[in-house]
Amino acid sequence: MADDRQSGTTSIPFDVPTSARAYGWMLGGKDNYDVDRAFLLSTLPSFPECVDIARQNRQFLFRAVRYLTQEAGIRQILDMGCGLPTDNNVHQVARRFAPDARVVYVDIDPIVLAHGRALLADDDSTTVITADMRDQQSVLDHPEVRRLIDFREPVAVLFLSVGHHLTDADDPRRVLRTVIDGSAPGSYLGLSQVVSDDPARGAQMTEHISQRGIPWQTRTPAELDAFLDGLDPVEPGLVNLADWRPDPDQPALAPVHEALATYLGATEKNKGIYEYGGLLRKS
Ligand SMILES: C[S@@+](CC[C@H](N)C(=O)[O-])C[C@H]1O[C@@H](n2cnc3c(N)ncnc32)[C@H](O)[C@@H]1O
Repeated sequence: MADDRQSGTTSIPFDVPTSARAYGWMLGGKDNYDVDRAFLLSTLPSFPECVDIARQNRQFLFRAVRYLTQEAGIRQILDMGCGLPTDNNVHQVARRFAPDARVVYVDIDPIVLAHGRALLADDDSTTVITADMRDQQSVLDHPEVRRLIDFREPVAVLFLSVGHHLTDADDPRRVLRTVIDGSAPGSYLGLSQVVSDDPARGAQMTEHISQRGIPWQTRTPAELDAFLDGLDPVEPGLVNLADWRPDPDQPALAPVHEALATYLGATEKNKGIYEYGGLLRKS
């Protein structure tokens, strides 16, 4: 992928799938290419849970941001690995409950910046930057982060459905903890990642996805928990996201593409792979 941080432009890769585009397709999005659809259609026969868990994650996002703004009083959010804009994006959910909320979106995929800029053209309180979350210092030093986030006040930092893009070689504990450990008391960490209770199945998934060019590591729930010591989980703690404060009345997602519809409901029969996470508070 070409990357020109000086000019703020990057070129969009068409020869490998990207997480943002493949995930977006499972949410009903249209900004994806043959390579992304072929990747998913080759993955789902072995891991049919993926469509459900992507959608469960996105529904968790709504409930988590609602909790942060409506119940926890959060007014500034740093969203790492934010993905392509869709319905009910973080800043839209936050503003629904806290009109003065400020949001910085961060993603490594240049297509996110291209679409985010269009969505946010007239919005002074929300911005999107292209950065690699593995380099937390470059995120923290970014002028847009410094403009919108005051780290002397509580902040929420989100890593939603991105933990699995951090391999052990990336030192995930450091990546996930840099902002929250340096933030004011009353700050929150929100995170989720694809897990399996069966390490062998998790390893199969890791191999399958990594070989297709997307950095990936399926973990066990205990492996994610180990990064989070010293933070106070919000009830019900870290759980399968389908069980995190479920709300049948929350807004529905866009319908899934017909090519993926056969996989809807797969988690009712097979719970081997699921999305695990929650919110934690720094006291
Ligand atoms: C599965 S999507 C999740 C999107 C969104 N957080 C959500 O929960 O709906 C994962 C996103 O993480 C981004 N990502 C992966 N590795 C990244 C990195 N090293 N730095 C920043 N973003 C990254 C991908 O480009 C993708 O948009």
